[in-house]
Amino acid sequence: MTEQTMNRVALLTGAAKRIGAETARVLHASGMNIILHHNASADLANALAAELNAVRAESVVTIGFDLKQIERLPELAEKAAAAWGRIDLLVNNASTFYPTEMDQIDLTQWHDLIAVNLQAPLFLSQACSRFLREKSGSIVNIVDIHGDRPLKGYPIYSIAKAGLIAMTKSLARELAPEIRVNGVAPGAIMWPEVEAYEAVHQEIIDRTALKREGHPNDIAKTVQFLCDGPDYITGQIIAVDGGRTLSN
Ligand SMILES: NC(=O)c1ccc[n+]([C@@H]2O[C@H](COP(=O)([O-])OP(=O)(O)OC[C@H]3O[C@@H](n4cnc5c(N)ncnc54)[C@H](OP(=O)(O)O)[C@@H]3O)[C@@H](O)[C@H]2O)c1
Repeated sequence: MTEQTMNRVALLTGAAKRIGAETARVLHASGMNIILHHNASADLANALAAELNAVRAESVVTIGFDLKQIERLPELAEKAAAAWGRIDLLVNNASTFYPTEMDQIDLTQWHDLIAVNLQAPLFLSQACSRFLREKSGSIVNIVDIHGDRPLKGYPIYSIAKAGLIAMTKSLARELAPEIRVNGVAPGAIMWPEVEAYEAVHQEIIDRTALKREGHPNDIAKTVQFLCDGPDYITGQIIAVDGGRTLSN
């Protein structure tokens, strides 16, 4: 296979289910090979890989890795690059999300939320940068509208996502001109799997201009746009929130 006919390769973190899985499907349908990273959801990751490999043989591999092992992230990058000898796109999608009321915040929560939502994207980007540079590749960070407008009751998560927005802009400068770095900020796309959120579903939709929740495909297509669309975009965050951030 020549350089021209070789499929480009995307590494997606936390891609066994939900938004990450849909993004993997969309990027795969666009012709990319996929490195599907997961942690606990090995069965789901393997099922998705089998589904996509049935569409195009040997186009998806899975890698299990706990992103809290920050010092070992270079191993993840090496393993990912070894699959097809290249990485063209890194999507930092994995996340932990739960409330941390101010009077109960502790360092365990801090280390967990900051590690997965901020440290891992930074150090995985660092570890992947030499591979991305070779292919003039790009990084897409999945941030959150609450990185700009903190979510009440979720201060550490909001701080982490605010940091990820800053990281997106900072790395866009640091890794230019070879690597573009952008972010996608979802609004209400898929309700989190935490009970505390159920009571506020309708309230959030009422405050969203389009009066409905979005679909993971909205995020996936935006990631694909940032990867394949105009290559003069870097350091930008695109809100995919149905107009949620237009109002208070
Ligand atoms: N859902 C929404 O409406 C919404 C709104 C705003 C922003 N976002 C952002 O969009 C992205 C995707 O959202 P989502 O709701 O689909 O995410 P999610 O289900 O909360 O998490 C995605 C994956 O992150 C992985 N993960 C968590 N801790 C990990 C660790 N220590 N090591 C490795 N992987 C770990 C999990 O993998 P395993 O299952 O394999 O353990 C999980 O499946 C996230 O960055 C989120 O913050 C989502």
